[in-house]
Amino acid sequence: MTLNNTHDDWWKQAVVYQIYPRSFRDVNGDGLGDVAGITAQMGYIKELGVDALWLSPFYPSELADGGYDVIDYRNVDPRLGTLDDFDTMVTAAHDAGLKIIVDIVPNHTSNMHPWFQAALAAAPGSPERDRYIFRHGEGEHGELPPNDWQSLFGGPAWEAVGDGEWYLHLFTKEQPDLNWKNNDVHEDFKRTLRFWSDRGVDGFRIDVAHGLAKDLDSRPLKELERWTVANDQSITGEHPLWDRPEVHDIYREWNRVFNEYDPPRFAVAEAWVVPEHQHLYASEQELGQVFNFEFAKADWFADEFRTAILEGLSSADESKSTTTWVMSNHDVCRHASRYGLPQVRTNGYHILANDWLLRSGETYPEDRELGARRARAAILMELGLPGSVYVYQGEELGLPEVPNIPWDRLEDPVAFNTDHGGAQKGRDGCRVPLPWRAADMPRAAAWDPAFGTGASFGFSDAKPDGSAADNPHLPQPLWYADFAADTEDADDASMLNLYRRALHWRQNHLTPTGDLSLAWLDDDVLDPGESDVIAYARPVADGDGGRFACIVNFGPTPVELPHGDIVLRSTPFDGYSLPVDAAIWMRI
Ligand code: NOJ
Repeated sequence: MTLNNTHDDWWKQAVVYQIYPRSFRDVNGDGLGDVAGITAQMGYIKELGVDALWLSPFYPSELADGGYDVIDYRNVDPRLGTLDDFDTMVTAAHDAGLKIIVDIVPNHTSNMHPWFQAALAAAPGSPERDRYIFRHGEGEHGELPPNDWQSLFGGPAWEAVGDGEWYLHLFTKEQPDLNWKNNDVHEDFKRTLRFWSDRGVDGFRIDVAHGLAKDLDSRPLKELERWTVANDQSITGEHPLWDRPEVHDIYREWNRVFNEYDPPRFAVAEAWVVPEHQHLYASEQELGQVFNFEFAKADWFADEFRTAILEGLSSADESKSTTTWVMSNHDVCRHASRYGLPQVRTNGYHILANDWLLRSGETYPEDRELGARRARAAILMELGLPGSVYVYQGEELGLPEVPNIPWDRLEDPVAFNTDHGGAQKGRDGCRVPLPWRAADMPRAAAWDPAFGTGASFGFSDAKPDGSAADNPHLPQPLWYADFAADTEDADDASMLNLYRRALHWRQNHLTPTGDLSLAWLDDDVLDPGESDVIAYARPVADGDGGRFACIVNFGPTPVELPHGDIVLRSTPFDGYSLPVDAAIWMRI
């Protein structure tokens, strides 16, 4: 019996599979993943047992920031396909019972966007410039930046345009920030939301959702220097750039657009704000949902995950929505590697794991077996919880981060611009094209530093004229063979088959439509005092009675289990004690 995905609020407990299109599957052989590649893999996604797909940007872009520099919000990058390909993909997804979420990037455009090109051609003070954030420079002729802000990707956050004016870019200089006090900006984004909704898109992921409303006018720019661009999280609403109260007016306006549709559309906010503010973005009058990144930040300690769970559920209570759980995405080091790295309570900020390699100058300190074991336990912990789960492409294969991409193959602007006490190689290690087939590649030892050339683990098909495909846009290490989808499909004990089992069980037994509040958590599963253990129980929703329990052992010794029937184990074991770094699902 499938209970999920039939109601208007399907998204409140959906499992959403994130696709980074340029690295998912390439059917035209140019080394870049494409929209037709997503259609080609729809059977795989369906079989996995998720409810929806979220597509990172596939819009025309110069790729200054992996597609988050958008030239045209209502089109498909010709290298990735056409609008017809998009429509075909949406139909295939809907036929498979899957919903589609697309990324909206409203904080900034590409510098190649026609609006920005018009702004450059127009005079200071013109309506064209007013769509962005232009200000006069300091110094006699405006030759100095308006203040000392540094962009999040390194270097000054202001760029001069040669006539005494500078424009603000919180990210790369190819991503000028939009001015959300300008009405054209409001109207154009509503048009974009309707454009994709009319094409059958079911929801949106909002990039940098906490950054749109800015206040650069009520105080002199020089005075604002005490606030940095770095995501300073403030609860007071005083920060000129982040999490300002006015941002919520924008989402109330968008909510009215969502409600023009049946079923109403929804959005999930990427908002790096204090936990106390998350619920504001997720309210019923605004977007509906917000990313809770606390799992992505937690190191492998029970207390960090326990806090993340409790805060996530209470924030959901406040917003009257559901929370979300995220371990990996295209911006963070893959969690199979994070959990295999030394656990030093970094609050997640070994986000760029490859730092370790560069800074220590030692052997890369990743224990891949340990990372995989913990990743298996973590997915059971995550999928047992009420709320939505966002799964990043390749995590179902247990893919580790690729830490040693050569510098001359890196694409992430972080690699070129930052210097946070040591060069950072950036986020490409989690964006390497997926391995679909092991067969046509040479085998390699787990730590062989070699990269493949020629065949691409089934990522690229031959070109339409039959000639060989170009190399994948980021190089794949030869050890990818061990993680290829076909290898894992054939191995009953693989990560892929664990994900499939857990997702199907969740879909059929754990997705009621009723109350999803904190009251769901029972703490009587184990004796109190098991501080290295996370254990929770909730009703089973299949009408067969009993309670579902999930128990995860973070501690140094095995843990005695309660009586009940075993549903799923993260790792095989005998007897009735749960081993270290393992999780179990039970019916108790
Ligand atoms: C968040 C996106 O996830 C990230 O990939 C991007 O670089 C920034 N926003 C800027 O758009």
